[in-house]
Amino acid sequence: MKVIAFNGSARKQGNTAMLLGFVLEELKNEGIETEIYDLAGKTVKGCIACYKCFKNKDHRCVVCDDAINECIEKMEGADGILLGSPTYFADVSAAMKALIERSGMVARANGDMFKRKVGAGVVAVRRAGAIHVFSSLNYFFFIGQMIVPGSSYWNLGIGRQPGEVNSDAEGVQTMKDLGRNMAWLLKKLHG
Ligand SMILES: Cc1cc2nc3c(=O)[nH]c(=O)nc-3n(C[C@H](O)[C@H](O)[C@H](O)COP(=O)(O)O)c2cc1C
Repeated sequence: MKVIAFNGSARKQGNTAMLLGFVLEELKNEGIETEIYDLAGKTVKGCIACYKCFKNKDHRCVVCDDAINECIEKMEGADGILLGSPTYFADVSAAMKALIERSGMVARANGDMFKRKVGAGVVAVRRAGAIHVFSSLNYFFFIGQMIVPGSSYWNLGIGRQPGEVNSDAEGVQTMKDLGRNMAWLLKKLHG
């Protein structure tokens, strides 16, 4: 079993990466393979609404000059998908939004490609807006017929400078509980 985690932060080693790391650590402890994919440093453009994915139905986006098809392949090859985003103006980062638009549309065009995979969102925030980001991430999973595990709080951690989320004990615990629940669910589905 494998879980792929996308980090939508502009900072590869920032708080979003650390929060995802707590989730992945629990998954690894349960014997689940993990991979983290940084959107930072890569280009993922927004959907251009050409709808060619509905015509082609080839599990790919026709716009192939950026990283999106690599991301879609990684999602297809995993049993679980984590989407991690910082809070930028009370919403997901632009990179995460582009990933959601493009991979979400290709998935819909191909009969819900990620149906019954396990999915969860993770949010880093300094002060406010995280719950809206959490909702934005969950819309991706729920419209795609994916299965979403819960945790002991909504999946957010508080911090501004990289590393500050480590001081948010409840946020860290939420990530660990999410990781354990995701592993439990994956084993129920595939064990
Ligand atoms: C463009 C931008 C917009 C931001 N908007 C918000 C916001 O709306 N609410 C908030 O609490 N923090 C906001 N922040 C702070 C980040 O969410 C916070 O520093 C977070 O820990 C960043 O995660 P990272 O370390 O993974 O980059 C913003 C930061 C940036 C760069």
